[in-house]
Amino acid sequence: MKKNYDVKDLKLASKGKLRIEWAAQSMPVLSQINDRFKKQKPLKNIRIAACLHVTTETAYLMEVLKNGGAEIALCASNPLSTQDDVAASLVKNTGISVFAIKGEDNNTYYKHIEAVLSITPNITMDDGADLVSVLHKNKRELLKNIIGGTEETTTGVIRLKSMAKNGVLKYPIIAVNDANTKHMFDNRYGTGQSTIDGIIRATNRLLAGSIFVVSGYGWCGKGLAMRARGMGARVIVTEVDALKALEAVMDGFEVMPMVDAAKIGDIFCTVTGNTSVLREEHFKVMKDGAIVSNSGHFNVEIDLEALKKMSKSIRKIREYVDEYTLKDGKRINVLGEGRLINLASAEGHPSSVMDMSFANQALCVEYLIKKSKKLKNDVYSVPREIDSMIGELKLKSMGIKIDKLTAEQKKYLDSWEEGT
Ligand code: ADE
Repeated sequence: MKKNYDVKDLKLASKGKLRIEWAAQSMPVLSQINDRFKKQKPLKNIRIAACLHVTTETAYLMEVLKNGGAEIALCASNPLSTQDDVAASLVKNTGISVFAIKGEDNNTYYKHIEAVLSITPNITMDDGADLVSVLHKNKRELLKNIIGGTEETTTGVIRLKSMAKNGVLKYPIIAVNDANTKHMFDNRYGTGQSTIDGIIRATNRLLAGSIFVVSGYGWCGKGLAMRARGMGARVIVTEVDALKALEAVMDGFEVMPMVDAAKIGDIFCTVTGNTSVLREEHFKVMKDGAIVSNSGHFNVEIDLEALKKMSKSIRKIREYVDEYTLKDGKRINVLGEGRLINLASAEGHPSSVMDMSFANQALCVEYLIKKSKKLKNDVYSVPREIDSMIGELKLKSMGIKIDKLTAEQKKYLDSWEEGT
């Protein structure tokens, strides 16, 4: 019989089990869903192919889906983000099929995607849209079984919207990323903290007093700039969008073109979702010892091919740091091969924000099962009731109460007659 998993080492399972338990302790909203799913089994007879970062938080989501009655196969959504102990625990302790090994090459990464698709899914759960892309390109015979999918991240939503616009998307997908309880917290506070964590774990450099360049001022960039400032760095933001640039200026950051920031920055981090944000013209003017990193979904934001061509040697100077020495002797340090540094050298977003992101995932799967027949082959928002309920549950779990509108206030908001 073919092995229904591919993980680094099953002996790591006991360590993974404890770490998953630790994460679950900070995921009260998902835990409430878990309790209900265990009783009601709303996902009974549903097969889910999931392509997510294989972390402790993802493991807990997988357990919740399984408790809801689903059969699941999981692969990694990035070759460097897998936590091998977590993958081992899922296989050994829950019987979920996992195909993910930290550091897997590109070929294995795609083989693993094909492996999870072999469960003939009814639902896809994706982070970056690689699973959906492989399904539409190479495994079209599976499309007939699929009722819908969910997408976790900004980059994936952009790809899926392009598929829908071009008429090639063959089933409805819910953009979990676009829920307020996802991007306002996960993208901002999650990326902010975990990216700083990743850069520090990789380099052990002092941020206080350093010049820290954040490229991109979307939700992730906002969080990162805020947290870098909190560590005492002098933060520069680069942008291509006038409104976002203005926002950064008014939030108190310096804003300038990358070619100017490149001359003075000590640490760079791209979070744009676009390609070749740091390229030859920037490497040429960087200071000796500059550190470059990326926290966007794909490893395209730093043009490593160009950097390689400009270099006479490359050596791994410490784990997650490749030192490129240019022909003139200048050194540029690349963190985590230009892959998302918050998951490569750290553990990704803390559980407390993933709680809301993954509560959205679980409830959207349940919603798809109930409503998919009414949906077209398009990208949909998370229903407002789900988003609001998650916000309310999260606040409650934190023991925070808020005010209610009085009858007079409700009436006032509904009226237009009253003025000065
Ligand atoms: N993306 C960013 N952080 C993550 C985490 N901790 N788990 C799963 N996906 C993530």
